[in-house]
Amino acid sequence: MRLDKFISNCTGLTRSQATKVIRQGRVLVNGELCKQGAQQLAAADRVALDDNELSLPGPRYLVLHKPAGYVCSSDDPEHPTVMMLLDEPALEKLNPVGRLDLDTTGLLLITDDGQWLHRITSPKHHVAKTYRVWLADPISADAAVQFAEGVLLRGEKDPTLPAELEVIAEREALLTIHEGRYHQVKRMFASLGNKVVRLHREKIGDFQLPEDLATGEYRLLTEAEKDQVQIKGK
Ligand code: URA
Repeated sequence: MRLDKFISNCTGLTRSQATKVIRQGRVLVNGELCKQGAQQLAAADRVALDDNELSLPGPRYLVLHKPAGYVCSSDDPEHPTVMMLLDEPALEKLNPVGRLDLDTTGLLLITDDGQWLHRITSPKHHVAKTYRVWLADPISADAAVQFAEGVLLRGEKDPTLPAELEVIAEREALLTIHEGRYHQVKRMFASLGNKVVRLHREKIGDFQLPEDLATGEYRLLTEAEKDQVQIKGK
């Protein structure tokens, strides 16, 4: 890898900012001053910027408490994006793990590990996602049975996979699904003639949105939390 690219990857500096610090004589390669951004590095080369040795960051796994009004993408012409809530180097490498609607709040994972992202989102892996749902009308008595059997969403041929509904109050429930179709929770309730008025994701796999994570805040996942995410649930 070129020296300027390596510095950019390690620090989050843009390529031109990396070139500048190299030209300013702030970079040592194996203890020797190096002013050539194009210099190719070997795996064993040690690079220091202002006497701090640099290393490439490992994969990052973040948990964000998504507020309403933010889009789950890196670019949007109309709305702020969840990526704007992050203060991270190399932001362009990070991606939301699946999508929550603009008005949905709660647990959103963000990573630069493409394989991990795929394992959590791929329908093949059936990782459970639990939502707290508030509804316009009382939940019908047979809703749990219908969701357990699978319902047909408008415009689709295959019924939904069995899902678990736990009724909390007349218009409030926890719904656990094992796939991630477009607007799935809202469309599942629409198939029963009801309307979701508020939606909040609480859990992915066995990992619960941390209670101390305020809306709009994020932090790194611990190793144990990362493992909990992949537990499939029932
Ligand atoms: N299902 C929905 O309808 N919306 C979401 O944001 C997530 C799941």
